[in-house]
Amino acid sequence: MSSSARNRTLFEHPRLYDLAFGFRDFAEQSDGLLALARRYGASPVRAALELCCGPAHHLRELATRGIRAYGLDTNREMLAYARSLARRDGAAVELIRGDMRTFRLPRRVDLAYCLFDSFCHNTTDADAIATLRATAGALRRGGLFVAELTHPGDFFAGIRSRSRTRWTMRYPDVVISTRFAHTRVDPIEETFEPLIEIEARYRTGRKTVRIVDRLQYRIWLRSGLRHAAAASGCFDVVGWHGDLTPDVPLGTRDEAWQMVVVMRKR
Ligand SMILES: C[S@@+](CC[C@H](N)C(=O)[O-])C[C@H]1O[C@@H](n2cnc3c(N)ncnc32)[C@H](O)[C@@H]1O
Repeated sequence: MSSSARNRTLFEHPRLYDLAFGFRDFAEQSDGLLALARRYGASPVRAALELCCGPAHHLRELATRGIRAYGLDTNREMLAYARSLARRDGAAVELIRGDMRTFRLPRRVDLAYCLFDSFCHNTTDADAIATLRATAGALRRGGLFVAELTHPGDFFAGIRSRSRTRWTMRYPDVVISTRFAHTRVDPIEETFEPLIEIEARYRTGRKTVRIVDRLQYRIWLRSGLRHAAAASGCFDVVGWHGDLTPDVPLGTRDEAWQMVVVMRKR
């Protein structure tokens, strides 16, 4: 069972979530997604879908480049927040409330993606296979599915973690301090609980807000993803990268700080 029912606290504060993790360069990552699509033969991308879209930053970026953009998420608050950002930017993003394991899309897309470890909300093989089948239903033949996941090295003792565990983001109205840790790693069930602590100190004197949340995530390694792709009957795994760009291969060098899997729809 995915953790969608449990992840209330964090995702019900979409702006704080967004500010806490607001260190990514969305334009550059969108370039990377389109470069992956070119590298694996899915160009031109005319329509794209983000699973677990959250604030949908990449979709707004793609929409402004003329790509038809669809975002799927289970969380009402997150979708309302994504909608307000799209309205602010005049970006045409179609936001749909639904579960990645069971959704249907009104049309086929060329590229589907699931970023920032969100695929780990699939905590079982059955969840992942259902998600891949639903995604295949939304993709044209030859279309790509890209998932951005934690680098495998981060799960093994003795290998230096590539992720920072504490950081502070400063904005005009608020200073956000975040702690992120991989906790309760269960090597038998292959699950872990990312612990996320966010403290928002407002410059305006508003009361400080503290959020402490633990999600339930699956540890997705290469073998599990290969198995899920094969068992779905819909995808071939065609590429592995260490960042959201075809330029960084998956490996143990520092530049490979994540695991990005690329699957092509049969
Ligand atoms: C960590 S946020 C990531 C947001 C976005 N992908 C990003 O890169 O910023 C994860 C999102 O996944 C959504 N989510 C969790 N389980 C889901 C499911 N089964 N189907 C669809 N969305 C889900 C949550 O509501 C949340 O907005």
